[in-house]
Amino acid sequence: MRISDAEILAALPDLGVELRADTRLAERTSLAIGGTTDLLRIRRYHHLPELIGLLDRAGIRHRFLGGGTNLLVVDGELPWVVLQFARPDKEVSIGGNFVSVDAAADLGRTVTYCAKNNLGGMEGLIGVPGTIGGALRMNAGAYGTQIGSFVREVEIYRAASRELLNLRGSQIRFEYRHTSFAPDDIMLTVKLELPSKPYREILQGIRVSNEKRRASQPLDQKSAGCIFKNPPGASAGRMIDELGLKGQGVGDARVSDRHANFFINAGRASSADMMQLLAQVRERVRSTYGLELENEVIVWDR
Ligand code: EPU
Repeated sequence: MRISDAEILAALPDLGVELRADTRLAERTSLAIGGTTDLLRIRRYHHLPELIGLLDRAGIRHRFLGGGTNLLVVDGELPWVVLQFARPDKEVSIGGNFVSVDAAADLGRTVTYCAKNNLGGMEGLIGVPGTIGGALRMNAGAYGTQIGSFVREVEIYRAASRELLNLRGSQIRFEYRHTSFAPDDIMLTVKLELPSKPYREILQGIRVSNEKRRASQPLDQKSAGCIFKNPPGASAGRMIDELGLKGQGVGDARVSDRHANFFINAGRASSADMMQLLAQVRERVRSTYGLELENEVIVWDR
C-alpha cells in the first residue's frame, strides 16, 4: 500500500517518522517471505497516538512489525502499511536489579548487556532472535526460562483506547507463548527485575544454552523458529519427525532436516508454499495423533 495522502506525508518529519516507500517485507523477516508496502520507521514513540490517529482518519490500515523473526507475511502488494520502531541510541538503563529496556532493543544484546552488569536469569533466552517487544508479546521462552517472569512494568500503546498506558507486571498474564495483551497493543518499554549473579556464572549459562541450541536447531537457515506450539504434554517436533516429514516440502518451503518443528525457506519459497506446508503437516498430525497443532508463528494474511 502506498501512502499518498498529502497531509500525512507533510506531517511525518515532525512526528520523527521516516517513510521507506515500497519496502519488501521479505527483506525484514527471518523467513525471507512477504510482499511490498510502505514502511514507517518511528524514532519517538511518544508521537505514536498522533501518527495512528492520522492513519485512521485517512482510512489507512496498519500493522506493527517488531524484529520479524516469528512472522509469516503473505506475498504481493500488501493492503496495510507497516510501522516499526527505529533502534534508539540508548536501549537499556540499569538501576539496582531493575532494567528498563526499549521495546525495539534486541533481546540477545539485552541479555548480554545485563550479564556484563552482573544481572542474570535470562541465560536461556540468549539465542532467541528478535526484539524485546516481540519477546514480551509472545512471552518468548527457552530452556525453562520465559521473559514474562521478570516483567515488573510495561508501557504500551493501547490501540483500542488510543492511549499510552503503564501496566504493572501483575496486571498481565504470561502463559506458554501467550500473553493477555490485546492483539493490537504495541509494546513501548519494559522494566524487568533480574537476580544478581557474577558475570562468569551468567556467561557459563549462556554458553550452555548456545551449545544446546546449535546442536538441535537449524540456526544458519531462514526460518521463524518453531512454527507450531507444543500441544500440552506433546512435542510438535517429535511428532513431525516420527511421521518422517523431515526434508519434505512444498516448493522451497521445507521441514528442516535438523529440527522438524522448524520450517525453512530453502530458496525462493512463496507465502503460499509455506502456508500449504503448514496445512499439510497439521493435517498429518491431526490424522495420526488426533492433535490439532496451533501456529506459533504469527501469520499476516490479507
Ligand atoms: N525432537 C525430535 N525430532 C525433532 C525435534 C525434536 O525427536 O526433529 C524431540 C527431541 O529429541 C526432544 C523433544 O522432541 O525429546 C523436544 O525437542 P526440543 O528439546 O528441541 O524442544 P522443542 O519442544 O521442540 C522448545 C521450544 C523452542 C525452544 C526449545 C528449547 C516450542 C514450540 N519450542 O522446542 O522454542 O528453543 O524448546 O527450550 O515451545 C520457538 O519458540 O520458536 C522455539 C524454537
